[in-house]
Amino acid sequence: MTESSFDVLVLSGDGIGAEIMPHAIRVMNAAVDDSIELRLEYADFGGCSIDRHGVPMTEETLRQAQESDAVLLGAVGGPKWDDLPVDQKPEKGLLGLRSGLDCFANLRPALTFGPLSEASTLKSELVSDLDILIVRELTGGVYFGEPRGIETRDNLRRGFNTFVYDESEIERVSKVAFELARKRSGKLCSVDKANVLEVTQLWRDVVCEVHSEYTDVELSHLYVDNAAMQLVRQPKQFDVIVTGNMFGDILSDVAAMLTGSLGMLPSASLNSSNRGLYEPVHGTAPDIAGQNIANPLAMILSIAMMFRYSLDAAHVAESIEVAVHRVLEQGLRTGDIMPLDPSAECLLVGTDQMADEVIGQLKSS
Ligand code: IPM
Ligand code: MG
Repeated sequence: MTESSFDVLVLSGDGIGAEIMPHAIRVMNAAVDDSIELRLEYADFGGCSIDRHGVPMTEETLRQAQESDAVLLGAVGGPKWDDLPVDQKPEKGLLGLRSGLDCFANLRPALTFGPLSEASTLKSELVSDLDILIVRELTGGVYFGEPRGIETRDNLRRGFNTFVYDESEIERVSKVAFELARKRSGKLCSVDKANVLEVTQLWRDVVCEVHSEYTDVELSHLYVDNAAMQLVRQPKQFDVIVTGNMFGDILSDVAAMLTGSLGMLPSASLNSSNRGLYEPVHGTAPDIAGQNIANPLAMILSIAMMFRYSLDAAHVAESIEVAVHRVLEQGLRTGDIMPLDPSAECLLVGTDQMADEVIGQLKSS
């Protein structure tokens, strides 16, 4: 009997995004029982939307997204659209979607899955059991600041962007980060460049003000250059990190690589009513698209996050996460997470088989 039903908009996107999505949807359908009804709608997004509709995101697609309980997004972009001007690229659609849904808090966990600590390029003792959560501000900062552009003055071209945050933007994302830190180890590190940039001096000031409501959480601050270095030097010193849009973009790629593969990492982007956009951290990987070798686990784990944060079904999230762990424990690997040590006993599987195995685990539990 159906107890709850949800509208989920699926935007598969380009490259491996489009390739992985159908397999992740199979896993999603296998993970729910009759008590949850998922009503799926599909729309073009990114490069494929440019090809069919002339823009990376149509107004209709944004409206559909705003009316959904959650949006699943594969990945967007590729060489075919790289030469378009910045404001017509697939990435522009992604930024428009994030901001159109007001998904200001981007949660990017960097978690080392036990059986994968050998896949990291760092020594396994540095990364085994790593569990960091990066909270990246997603709808402001230099990504969205105005004025922006490229202009010619006195025959000299000049490019400019504006790095701006107002205090309400900093306050709301830091509250999300403090709440999450409170549920985890109680440690939050805020990353800025307050020694150089006024905007991030304000960031630091506001984070400190919000801290007065969360005195049980231990707050520290790092400059972004030091944070990048500390992440590769001694990553386990971190638990929750909160930072602005661009620093978060960069640090989340660093943190992702610590875990062995970008292909494993999910993300959730939430607005103030916990509706959200769920996308893997990886991109479209055009070089491997269409070969059935891409790792579907980041998309599958993003779906788990959707059940936890937007659909209030943590038990479904956990069942998916457990199934993924079991498949990895059995030694099944896509190419990106094969151990560097050739003597390790692992079995190379394709995109479809990886999803089949996760479904097999879900059914047997
Ligand atoms: C990410 C990506 C995007 C970003 C790009 C594709 C616009 O790198 O989600 O991390 O910079 O936010
Ligand atoms: Mg990025």
